Amino acid sequence: RTLRIGLIPGDGIGKEVIPAGRRILEALPASLGLKFEFVDLKAGFETFEQTGAALPDKTVEVLKSECDGALFGAVSSPTTPRKGYSSPIVALRKKLDLYANVRPVKSVMTAAKPIDMVIVRENTEDLYVKEERTYDAPDGTGKVAEAIKRISQRASSRIATMAGEIALRRQKIREGGASSIHKGPLVTITHKSNVLSQTDGLFRQTAKEALAAARFSSVAVEEQIVDSMVYKLFRQPEDYDVIVAPNLYGDILSDGAAALVGSLGLVPSANVGEGFAIGEPCHGSAPDIMGQGIANPIATLRSAALMLEFLNEEKAAALMYAAIDANLEEGRLLSPDLGGTAKTEEVVADILRRL
Ligand code: NAI
Ligand code: MG
Repeated sequence: RTLRIGLIPGDGIGKEVIPAGRRILEALPASLGLKFEFVDLKAGFETFEQTGAALPDKTVEVLKSECDGALFGAVSSPTTPRKGYSSPIVALRKKLDLYANVRPVKSVMTAAKPIDMVIVRENTEDLYVKEERTYDAPDGTGKVAEAIKRISQRASSRIATMAGEIALRRQKIREGGASSIHKGPLVTITHKSNVLSQTDGLFRQTAKEALAAARFSSVAVEEQIVDSMVYKLFRQPEDYDVIVAPNLYGDILSDGAAALVGSLGLVPSANVGEGFAIGEPCHGSAPDIMGQGIANPIATLRSAALMLEFLNEEKAAALMYAAIDANLEEGRLLSPDLGGTAKTEEVVADILRRL
């Protein structure tokens, strides 16, 4: 099987880590029967300054018509709002209907406690439909602003179903002998339906129904109100396996969870739709360290593996994760964000050798 992968480095350290993502895919053993073709694509602030568009139409067209998946680095946003500029990754999620944002958070020697969870965030609706308006208060006390929070049965059902599938897949990998801190598959539904009984109430109810399907009979389902979820997530992160949340809560929880494992440079994500996935490290363009060759490539390498998981290449992904974990376990070649002195290049070389 040949997979055609779009490479979108973007800005800053995106340019340093995306080539590493390409190299780990090229380094997969030939015995897997997997080949790759790469297409270089543009997006980001530099592209905006050169072409007037942060996300050129060509990038979207090529992804849609030619590619099976993509790797996206990071983009810088202007410090003061610039006319015509808007985030390319947000636009890509919309244009390609990438309805799920999946973020595995795993510690390997990098946190005080063992952590191994995945946050599955709905990516298309909730407050992020951006239907806002501002008006003058009728009693003359100043302005009032409001925003629509939209929750649909369709989006809630498909995101919960994806969370269930991910829980089953993780269980299968455990049964295949991978060591794990979890005994069985668990999905935790996050919401605030005690206050928002209609919107979050619909999310909660729909997610529960989706996860009650017969094929999820082995998956334990729990629910947790989002504020106490933050508390528990920080105190007992080891308890969580798969967490499913509406867009806003998922955004906040996933950044919070990333803080638990020691460095942004470790945490991958994937934007997933029907038959398409974009791997994307969680970090930004890190202007403070760009050009020094010291960015941690692991978030991107894990994002490449995660992309392959969603393209049904689980075997290849497992090999990549194992090589990365082995590098961290040995702890000899670590980048500066993890307290080491290794350059990006040395970390990549060590992981490729293990692969
Ligand atoms: P950032 O994630 O770029 O950096 C935060 C801190 O983490 C910095 O000290 C940085 O050096 C460090 N860091 C990040 N990735 C690292 C890696 N791979 N290895 C070692 N250290 C790493 O976030 P910041 O500084 O808030 O934003 C910088 C720019 O990136 C801004 O223009 C922001 O808008 C953009 N950004 C883009 C994102 C995206 O493309 N998805 C996400 C977050 C920020
Ligand atoms: Mg975020």
